[in-house]
Amino acid sequence: MVEKDEKREPKDRVILALDVPTAEAALRLVEETRGLVGMYKIGSQLFTATGPDLVRALLRGGERVFLDLKFHDIPTVVARAGVEAARLGVSMFTLHALGGEPMMRAVVEAVADFCAREGIARPRVLAVTVLTSLEAKDLAKMGLQAEPEEIAVALARLAHACGVGGVVASAWEIARIREAIPDREFAIIVPGVRPSGTPPHDQRRLATPQEAIRAGADYLVLGRPVLESDRPREILEDILRQLSS
Ligand code: C5P
Repeated sequence: MVEKDEKREPKDRVILALDVPTAEAALRLVEETRGLVGMYKIGSQLFTATGPDLVRALLRGGERVFLDLKFHDIPTVVARAGVEAARLGVSMFTLHALGGEPMMRAVVEAVADFCAREGIARPRVLAVTVLTSLEAKDLAKMGLQAEPEEIAVALARLAHACGVGGVVASAWEIARIREAIPDREFAIIVPGVRPSGTPPHDQRRLATPQEAIRAGADYLVLGRPVLESDRPREILEDILRQLSS
């Protein structure tokens, strides 16, 4: 069964993070950016505020959804959550690789079984490795004595071995991940993307859309450069032009 996130044209690689607090604001953004984005990302704030109805509304409108709830719990619980994400019909969803091998294997297996039984396309399971907000000194306080990048690569390797379909990583980590995991089907989703001339906000390891794709990103996650702009369509059209050149 084919996974639900095939990429055919530049816009399919662009994910817009709907980091807004209400369904109305989210639907307004979807309306404003229709046709220029391959997928909409719904994270924990918007999902907690609106629940799965918003996901269903987007899917009914023909959009694809990336459910970014970063699941992390015992294997049975996360496997069941993954099945519910698949039942909703999202194209991709996230879990924390730090949930460990039994958890990741349980999710991948439960989702594959469910989708085969129902005859539906499988969502891509994605792993979050080390949150980019954590530095070596934060990890040391958690009993983890290594550089964040080393742990991130180890977790990405483990996720791949468990059948997870990709990771969320900064553009700067792509080379190391590709070197450690030569499987080109393993997707790398890159946030912290800034078209030249837009402010960095709190992101530190930035890349322009072209740099990220050249480095080997499969998908780009864009949030504030589009959300805070009074001309979101122009920004996206610019990015798509850059990606096709
Ligand atoms: O473009 P902007 O910085 O606003 O995008 C932020 C989005 O990317 C958020 O939805 C956030 O969850 C996501 N993200 C991130 N850094 C990571 C992982 C995800 O900013 N390391």
